[in-house]
Amino acid sequence: MKRISTISIAIGISFALVSAAGYAQDSADLAALGKKLAINNCAVCHTFGKGEPNGQGPNLFGIVGRPMAAQSGFKYSAGMQAAASGKVWDEKLLDAWLSDTQTVAPGNAMTYFEGDDARRRKIIAYLSTLH
Ligand code: HEC
Repeated sequence: MKRISTISIAIGISFALVSAAGYAQDSADLAALGKKLAINNCAVCHTFGKGEPNGQGPNLFGIVGRPMAAQSGFKYSAGMQAAASGKVWDEKLLDAWLSDTQTVAPGNAMTYFEGDDARRRKIIAYLSTLH
């Protein structure tokens, strides 16, 4: 009996380790896929590297956790500035923004949206790695 329970504990632990490793792998894969999407869809207007210059849109390094409309040297639209008060970008707000920017900040100047849930999830996974 004792022997069986030791074995089942060992099996339980290895399952836990395998699924934790699997999760880390999944989010790394997600971010890698998101990077490709971001390069293809956002990089025409945005830079992602630390200290890179703003483009037509602001530099997005460190965007997760950054207050809205707070990138220095970027001239935000009046709509974006009006919507910003007290808001900080997190994954949920980024998801809402990329689905429909006009709901989040009416009158903003970003003419892009991503209607596909899975693609947004990947892009946001990539943005979360930019620290
Ligand atoms: C055609 C150009 C363009 C494209 C493509 C574009 N953006 Fe933007 N983005 C902008 C502009 C311009 C702003 C600033 C809007 C304003 O001031 O009203 C902006 C703002 C943002 C902000 C708010 C930043 C802040 O400092 O508060 C985020 C986040 C963002 N974009 C993410 C993305 C992502 C992710 C993609 C790709 C999926 C993308 N954008 C594609 C032009 C673009």
